[in-house]
Amino acid sequence: MKQNKSHQVPSDKLTTLRCFIPYLAKYRFSFCFIALLVIFSAAVNLYGTYLIAPIINHYILPHNYDGLLQAVLFMCGMYALGVLSTAVYKQRMTRIAQAVIFDIRADLFEHLQTLPLEFFDTHTHGDIMSHFTNDLDVLQDAFHNCFDNIIQSFTIICGTLIAIFILNWKLSCIVATFMLMMTCLIQFYGKRSKHYFRIQQKAMGELNGYIEELVEGSKVVKVFQHETQSMQDFNEHNETLRHASAQALTYAGRTIPTVVSLSYVNYAIVASIGGFFVLANQLQLGELSAYLIYVRQTAMPINQFTQQLNFILAALAGAQRIFTLMGQISETDEGKVTLAQVTSSAHGRICESDTHTGQWAWRHPHEDHVEYVPLAGDVRFHNVVFGYRSDRDILKGISLYAKPGQKIAFVGSTGAGKTTIINLINRFYDISQGSITYDGIDVKLIRKADLRRSIAVVLQDTHLFSTSILENIRYGNLQANDEQIIEAAKLANAHSFIRRLPQGYHTQVQSNGSNLSQGQRQLLAIARAAVCDPPVLILDEATSSIDTRTEKLIEKGMDQLMEGRTVFVIAHRLSTVRNADAIIVLDHGKIIERGSHEELIQRKGRYYQLYNGQFELE
Ligand SMILES: Nc1ncnc2c1ncn2[C@@H]1O[C@H](COP(=O)(O)OP(=O)(O)OP(=O)(O)O)[C@@H](O)[C@H]1O
Ligand SMILES: [Mg+2]
Repeated sequence: MKQNKSHQVPSDKLTTLRCFIPYLAKYRFSFCFIALLVIFSAAVNLYGTYLIAPIINHYILPHNYDGLLQAVLFMCGMYALGVLSTAVYKQRMTRIAQAVIFDIRADLFEHLQTLPLEFFDTHTHGDIMSHFTNDLDVLQDAFHNCFDNIIQSFTIICGTLIAIFILNWKLSCIVATFMLMMTCLIQFYGKRSKHYFRIQQKAMGELNGYIEELVEGSKVVKVFQHETQSMQDFNEHNETLRHASAQALTYAGRTIPTVVSLSYVNYAIVASIGGFFVLANQLQLGELSAYLIYVRQTAMPINQFTQQLNFILAALAGAQRIFTLMGQISETDEGKVTLAQVTSSAHGRICESDTHTGQWAWRHPHEDHVEYVPLAGDVRFHNVVFGYRSDRDILKGISLYAKPGQKIAFVGSTGAGKTTIINLINRFYDISQGSITYDGIDVKLIRKADLRRSIAVVLQDTHLFSTSILENIRYGNLQANDEQIIEAAKLANAHSFIRRLPQGYHTQVQSNGSNLSQGQRQLLAIARAAVCDPPVLILDEATSSIDTRTEKLIEKGMDQLMEGRTVFVIAHRLSTVRNADAIIVLDHGKIIERGSHEELIQRKGRYYQLYNGQFELE
């Protein structure tokens, strides 16, 4: 379920509240039912108090015991109904609060998955996480407590005002003035605390981000004995959070005592003046009793109102962050070209097939017809210019081609732009000039999911998930059965080490593979790519952490894996790329040489230097 399609970034309370509407609308009947029950139970309370006047005047003062008993029984029945409705709406409210938060959480996660890599490049993971923890928590608290309480206190405040004006309008002018003062005070403190609540949520996100980074980098912290500095940095973040929380709660905390004090003053004044009215026979004793109970009761709902307001303020600050994240623009995908299973007839005509044929083609819809282009793995760059930031180009006019089945290697110094090039084939980022074609189709026209399905990548930084080895390999192709996975593991030469693990393929991988060696992680990543079985394979430093002996061992498997596929290889170890069809030498985002190993050695250019440099190193 995706509700917030408008990409509206809430800038104030009102727009934040507006973002909620779709979530609440789904439960509108339940909300109406709850509201009715809340109003009913509040009205029962108010009416119960109102009955005190006739009970005193008509039954207690004239000593009418029968009447008194009847009136008391009636009151008890009414209060019992009030209690019953409270129990029902409280239970219902809990369910709905959970359901609304469930929906928001699901949408938040769904939206997060659509965000471009740029978003993750520029936000700490802890901060992103805190949307799911702190921000959703406060929102849940507020939801759970606020909706019914706010309606209840509002009904009681309005009902009390009506009742006291009916009982005695003169005294009520004093009460109304005090109520107005209390409301102004609440407004005043509320505005200030909201500002700090927002800072508090932000500071909490930053602190989480910092902790997450340190936990992830705990080894580096220890290696460089950065504990003291880390503690200092942590203290700074912690102090910002403490200050914001203290300020927010101070302002929020001042509200209740001030309102309560005002209500006591109000009570004392009204009781004294009311007493004079009774003595002067302008008011009956029963009415004064009921009146004073009402006045005493005003502080409670106003208090409740303020408390709920604080809850809401904190929740709004959290909600604003949540909806801001939901308002982040998703990765755009205007691609219409999709992958389709096909069969080809004897005359070479390609037809789409519903069954699994193992043969794929690009389904390219034109205005008047649908064209099928066989999936071959032909990748071309035409004068591609790209920069992660608009003010700095990383790739400066790259043109290259990789024909189906060719093995293309990228070499060049660190930071030359090798990984960047392969990031573009996958459309992790969009280029600013030029074009990239895949089987003759501009990659911008291809739906991202289909494009990525046709390319397997062994990324430079291997990521493993906290599940079994088997499932980690299956990540490459969810349809793969266990035999295919084991086959892929054998191809990547991972089978022998996996078999020696305590639970073999069912061994659980601990956080990002901390229970495996770097090389073993790379072997799993290669197996993951192998199980994917796509026409294009990208290996970014796929064997950099594997020792040369194991690399030799997997060479055969790798050759088998590369067989018949277009392969892009990046490797610093030049011996790995010697047998490539073409070696592309990159320097500062430009191609400076292209050719086979022998050609480049003969040319005695940069490749020759790199190659010899490596020999010297070895
Ligand atoms: N996500 C990113 N955001 C901003 N700049 C980036 C990002 N990734 C890489 N860069 C910059 O782009 C340039 C090229 O990086 P790239 O990762 O392509 O280098 P590389 O050739 O793969 O290097 P290496 O051999 O070290 O892997 C570098 O100067 C780097 O600072
Ligand atoms: Mg790289």
